[in-house]
Amino acid sequence: MKILVVGSGGREHALCWKIARSPLVKKLYCAPGNPGTAAIADNVPVNADDIAGLVRFAKKEGIDLTVIGPEGPLCAGVVDAFTKEKLLCFGPNKAAAELEGSKTFARELCRKHRLPGPAFWVFEDHQQARSFLDNREDGPIVVKASGLAAGKGVTVCKNSAEAKAAAAECLEKRRFGEAGSKVVFEECLQGPEVSIITLTDGQTIVPLEPARDHKPVFDGDKGPNTGGMGVVTPVNLMPRMASQIESQIVFPAVHAMNREGRRYQGFLYAGLMLTQQGPRVLEFNCRLGDPETQPLLMRLTSDLVPLLLATAEGRLDELEAPVWDKRVAVCVVACSGGYPGDFKKGFPITGLDRVDAGDDLQVFHAGTAQKPGGDVLTAGGRVLAVTALGADIEAARARAYAALGKIEFAGMHYRKDIGLPRQ
Ligand code: AMP
Ligand code: GLY
Repeated sequence: MKILVVGSGGREHALCWKIARSPLVKKLYCAPGNPGTAAIADNVPVNADDIAGLVRFAKKEGIDLTVIGPEGPLCAGVVDAFTKEKLLCFGPNKAAAELEGSKTFARELCRKHRLPGPAFWVFEDHQQARSFLDNREDGPIVVKASGLAAGKGVTVCKNSAEAKAAAAECLEKRRFGEAGSKVVFEECLQGPEVSIITLTDGQTIVPLEPARDHKPVFDGDKGPNTGGMGVVTPVNLMPRMASQIESQIVFPAVHAMNREGRRYQGFLYAGLMLTQQGPRVLEFNCRLGDPETQPLLMRLTSDLVPLLLATAEGRLDELEAPVWDKRVAVCVVACSGGYPGDFKKGFPITGLDRVDAGDDLQVFHAGTAQKPGGDVLTAGGRVLAVTALGADIEAARARAYAALGKIEFAGMHYRKDIGLPRQ
């Protein structure tokens, strides 16, 4: 088979790494890819958002399956464009991807179909948003840009004053452009978080192993939110919590989408908070998480390709459940100085060749660039995702951090507490 992976982050490097191991694959492409994917696939100079260009390439090369990594092209209808040309493309179509593309849609779906989530209020008008804040009892509240904002559109506010500032960033200063033309205020929930990613063709539902992301930029969950600074998988869930997640959230979400006439095929990611009252939906994403993918795929021992094919073709019921390595995986993301705010690019990365990569240790590239024969340079906020397996969490942590210790670039920073017990 010929497979095309679309995207250029750490998630897509991990997807290429896993797909390249399948005996079904004769040729692997990545559009546009990064220096990490270049080592295992042919990078194609077509941007992930260039839907017409992707369709053209898939037709010309006779691609059997295209796998979309990021939410941007999914929400813009890449799957619909491929399907129209009778090309097989993995991921939800535009109508189904709205579950991530619009937080307002996702919240209203939860309300209508009784999926447990925080109380919420939607505003387009800045004055109305301010007077709502003036008229409630002061206290914590969460402010979210309704549209896509690369994981940076959420502010957890301690009080109404902070919430006013966050709402003004969206509605007045248009920091997130059109994506912030609506804001969602949410009741502020408390508890540990878990990412539950499920493979579904709209009928059969196959949950992957639970993973825990670390969103804030600094140790101890301090500082602004990022796309994700590190992940541990698996996460031990109490049996009651695990069954509530399945019966109150994952299954009802897939069925709710069917009832709305938006059959969901692809990876469905539920970001959950495990509160004293049970699991609550924080967000849905229409794709694999980044960096959740990196440690999850390192622990997946089954071939991923048949799972992707069966999902896209609507026959997931024909497959055996995936098999997981029993070991723990820890992924730590190394970032550019300043991320998630402004940062400089173009610094050489040294030490990559000193890392002894193998089945239990991988350095996935995210924001990197390389001219032919030149150094690997930083080219984004999240630069590398160092991912290790270990017999237990301490062993996996030790392996990941030892590898990180060999790598250097100007301004590099990463969390030191990924996988440590929560304070
Ligand atoms: P999201 O992108 O919607 O998952 O939000 C990013 C992060 O903000 C989450 O991982 C949580 O840590 C936090 N967050 C989002 N919504 C809430 C909420 N309603 N209550 C408390 N924290 C939240
Ligand atoms: N790591 C969080 C996300 O991919 O949205």
